[in-house]
Amino acid sequence: MSNYPVDISVKPEVKAFFDAATNTITYVVKDPNSNACAVVDSVMDIDYAAGRITYDNADEVIAYIRENGLKVEWLLETHVHADHLSAAPYIQRELGGKIGIGEKITVVQDTFGKVFNEGTEFQRDGSQFDRLFKDGDTFTIGGLTGFAMHTPGHTPACMVHVIGDAAFVGDTLFMPDGGSARADFPGGDAGELYDSIQKVLSLPDETRLFMCHDYGPNGRDIQWETTVADEKAHNIHVGGGKTKEDFVKFRTERDAQLDMPKLIIPSLQVNMRAGTIPADKDGRPMLKVPVNGL
Ligand SMILES: [Fe+2]
Repeated sequence: MSNYPVDISVKPEVKAFFDAATNTITYVVKDPNSNACAVVDSVMDIDYAAGRITYDNADEVIAYIRENGLKVEWLLETHVHADHLSAAPYIQRELGGKIGIGEKITVVQDTFGKVFNEGTEFQRDGSQFDRLFKDGDTFTIGGLTGFAMHTPGHTPACMVHVIGDAAFVGDTLFMPDGGSARADFPGGDAGELYDSIQKVLSLPDETRLFMCHDYGPNGRDIQWETTVADEKAHNIHVGGGKTKEDFVKFRTERDAQLDMPKLIIPSLQVNMRAGTIPADKDGRPMLKVPVNGL
């Protein structure tokens, strides 16, 4: 931990936006001492059955940023999501900012470039993004300094973005009663996920943790914020001193019973391109369905 520039005395302002269609939470993170902000894990709306893309979610975030006179410096992705499409390029066109993701995006692009039989025009070097973060890389939002913590396991490119006392954990952890995310996608690994979760839980106890998803288990209201101390004590998959062996066994058995996320096919094709919809040979936006390919 000691190599990470953690400063929990810095407390960014965090505004959350919940998307009920995909149970995703988008965040606007603001520097308390300037108008600079970052957007974490934005959502583009899709009616997959109709092949229709809309921007109600992103427009709500854009309106909030405009109303508050904020300046977008970053559009951060915690990982290549398999359950929703990123709106980062749409927000970037409207408001600017740089799109950043973990450098291991190249591994994800290589894996799913093959699954979707992409041609050589699909670059697998991460060049669709403005910045590729290595573990421990820092970035600034006005006067705030954030850093990226590499947390593979759910996917190879997962990053937790830590900004002052706020950590955006992506799909590394869920709320304590939700446990953890699956580790069975190509490139996922339950043992790696356990180690990554321990890395997150080695942040100071009072660190605020912001989830990418919440499904309101057992009928409770949707929640997205907790702390390191709370997760360590109460997380149903890793809290209370559960061992790595226990976790890997449980996670592997559970994952074998899960269906694929409803939007995995469009999500991967769009998100591995930083949120840009692929085009056919005539330049028309078009998605593919690989038969028995996943
Ligand atoms: Fe995910």
